[in-house]
Amino acid sequence: MTATRVCALSELEQDTAKRVEVDGVAIALVLDSAGELHAIGDTCTHGDISLAEGFVDGETLECWAHGSAFSLRTGKPLNLPAYEPVPVYVVEIDGDDVLIDPAVKLEAN
Ligand code: FES
Repeated sequence: MTATRVCALSELEQDTAKRVEVDGVAIALVLDSAGELHAIGDTCTHGDISLAEGFVDGETLECWAHGSAFSLRTGKPLNLPAYEPVPVYVVEIDGDDVLIDPAVKLEAN
């Protein structure tokens, strides 16, 4: 599988999550306040909630439902009730295009 264009870089707002779908996989994209782009699994591991509807705080994305905050770098939840990580995806930027191959994940560490 190859990376697919998911959106334009210029349409992303800093510190706001955007939900995109590629090959049936829901992904939350976050351009953080340092200008770094992150892509993590969009579905909270505690419930069927879109993390992109939550809150960006530094390098975390917090689920609005019960408050678990997931690291944008590792996908790990930093607090309960969620305890399973979400996947973290490799993001490519080509000009103004944001590209993701959902088969390419970073290892949580
Ligand atoms: S559904 Fe996300 S913390 Fe409960």
